[in-house]
Amino acid sequence: MFPVHRPRRLRSSETIRRMVRETLLTPDDFIYPLFVTFGKGVKRPISSMPGCFQESVDEVVKTAKETFELGIPAVILFGIPEHKDDVGSGAYDPHGVVQEAIKAIKDAVPELLVITDVCMCEYTSHGHCGIVKDGEVLNDPTLELLQKEAVSHAKAGADMVAPSDMMDGRVRAIRQALDEEGFSNVPIMSYAAKYASAFYGPFRDAAESTPQFGDRRAYQMDPPNRREALKEVALDIEEGADIVMVKPALAYLDVISDVKENFDLPVAAYNVSGEYSLVKAAAQLGWIDHDRVMMEVLTSIKRAGADMILTYFAPEAAKILNG
Ligand code: PBG
Repeated sequence: MFPVHRPRRLRSSETIRRMVRETLLTPDDFIYPLFVTFGKGVKRPISSMPGCFQESVDEVVKTAKETFELGIPAVILFGIPEHKDDVGSGAYDPHGVVQEAIKAIKDAVPELLVITDVCMCEYTSHGHCGIVKDGEVLNDPTLELLQKEAVSHAKAGADMVAPSDMMDGRVRAIRQALDEEGFSNVPIMSYAAKYASAFYGPFRDAAESTPQFGDRRAYQMDPPNRREALKEVALDIEEGADIVMVKPALAYLDVISDVKENFDLPVAAYNVSGEYSLVKAAAQLGWIDHDRVMMEVLTSIKRAGADMILTYFAPEAAKILNG
């Protein structure tokens, strides 16, 4: 009670603040998302995500090297194929853009952990995350395609696969397929609580994966639901997930915190494209201090309970942390 308690005593200098600081970010916390496209020597800026690029395999290898040199342990790959079709065959093409990128990155930087996003939306002509019939995304037939995609990533040398489609039962289906093909040591990071969010807008420009009709609300979670996230996470754990993810991060810190409290698996959070672009845009307008806001955002995600953060800020934040 005042004046006995004066919390300001522990804030009076940077040194004492360092001593009582509860949350410390390190480059070890980050997973850097990369967009791989076809061609050679391609490094195309993504206009809605300043600092991010669509890169051909040769370019993405250079970026992967720089990422590892900054102390960031992992990247997650997204593919932009040359051709899209109804069944997203580019997703499980042994010579697809992601498969080639995995091989090239593992060759050049073997210690960098290569995670792959497993989903159909970047590869389907309609832009949905599965097989479409009569305007509906079919759950069970999609599982077979996801199995093929995950196995083809593992065959190319992926260290971990991350299904982001939100089909029911996909973690079990992918686990079975990986085990049958001899990849029982490849972990699954599941996008367990993934919401149907408008914060994915810039990513869909980047990955050219905007649905051509309708939206994803019939498979991704409804943003107002909090308890349902615990159900989704519990199911994915039962099905064999090794790491569970909450996505987006910033508007869902309560969900991250709930998942951390209720389960003992590592928790990942995806600081998504829209969260990144908001900071970039406001900084360009001179309305906020970019670096301070970036670090505050990332710290808040870790403070909420994330053990790892997928973020487009990874290299910039790592540079600051490395001093
Ligand atoms: C693929 C996928 C999406 C994101 C990651 N994987 C887009 C979506 O579901 O529409 C979003 C990432 C971001 O916004 O940064 N399904």
